Amino acid sequence: MDEARLNVFMGKLVNDMGGAAMLANVIVGEELGLYKAMADSLPISPETLAEKTTCNPRLVREWLSAHAASGYMEHLDGKFRLPEEQALALAVEESPVYVAGGLGVVASFFHDKDKLVKAMRGNGALPWGDHHPCMFTGTERFFRPGYKGHLIAEWLPALEGVVAKLEDGAKVADIGCGHGASTVIMAKAFPNSRFVGYDYHAPSVTVATQRADEAGVSSRAHFFQGTAKSFPGNDYDLICYFDCLHDMGDPVGAARHAYDCLKDDGTVLLVEPFANDTLDDNIGPVGRLFYAASTFICTPNSLSQEVGLGLGAQAGEMRLRKVFSEAGFKQFRRATQTPFNLILEARK
Ligand SMILES: C[S@@+](CC[C@H](N)C(=O)[O-])C[C@H]1O[C@@H](n2cnc3c(N)ncnc32)[C@H](O)[C@@H]1O
Repeated sequence: MDEARLNVFMGKLVNDMGGAAMLANVIVGEELGLYKAMADSLPISPETLAEKTTCNPRLVREWLSAHAASGYMEHLDGKFRLPEEQALALAVEESPVYVAGGLGVVASFFHDKDKLVKAMRGNGALPWGDHHPCMFTGTERFFRPGYKGHLIAEWLPALEGVVAKLEDGAKVADIGCGHGASTVIMAKAFPNSRFVGYDYHAPSVTVATQRADEAGVSSRAHFFQGTAKSFPGNDYDLICYFDCLHDMGDPVGAARHAYDCLKDDGTVLLVEPFANDTLDDNIGPVGRLFYAASTFICTPNSLSQEVGLGLGAQAGEMRLRKVFSEAGFKQFRRATQTPFNLILEARK
């Protein structure tokens, strides 16, 4: 036993325990509007913040102190300040790095712990719809900032000839659309095109329909309950999968169905969590986050469906290429990437 190594590991664990405890505090702060009340980055006393947000002043002081101890805020003479950079991640909902909204995903791990224990002792299955409701809105809010930041500006332009088709008027399917974040963003940007979102989880389809309504795009974005292997149509210009193909039990079957539904010159846009091809190359903060989430959500969902391939959220380009090649696609390439996503293009 090497005591120095033990101390290093204990330090890491204490840090992680603090991180987990802080994330629960961040979820509370988001819900109570505490960060938004500090978004101007001016120093504020706990009493004033409590008054502004109608919260208990003693608890607000404790919450602020936890933030100061974590380096999330600055503490100056009894007042606390949320620096601009932290505000972008915690207070500014429209920012491309807003993470506070997506933490419902992390909260769901704790709510769903008993279900995962049962799945791990059994056949591994935990279907999407069996999770705590905070996972569905958490997923939407986790992914939406990235889609808003990159989808129109970078990802679609990285595909061959797709933007021109969307501008002229294309037919697009968004499969596994969830709450429709990606569908609505595309529908807003391309008024001449028609968008249809499919998801096998009926409550998500209802929310997606509401989101399109709220965004004023309900005339060109429609949502239906349907599986990736059975949605209708045979003349799509673009079929998209946003962070969902690896969640499916039969991604090869899904890709084969997309092949049949695409026009001959159509394109598949596959957005997947960033990953290299081997576990050893995925050791790091991003791989850690995705493997941990995949244990609770993506892999057990896949195991709950037909075939149960269980790709996991760290499948990587090589395995995804194999899926599309087995489905009959002749062309497959990495169009672009971000630290969190691989953007892949498949064509017939
Ligand atoms: C991680 S979420 C991504 C949702 C959405 N694309 C987004 O980016 O916010 C995965 C989605 O895939 C859906 N899904 C899983 N398996 C499916 C299947 N076989 N057919 C259709 N949808 C499926 C789930 O219901 C869920 O909404």
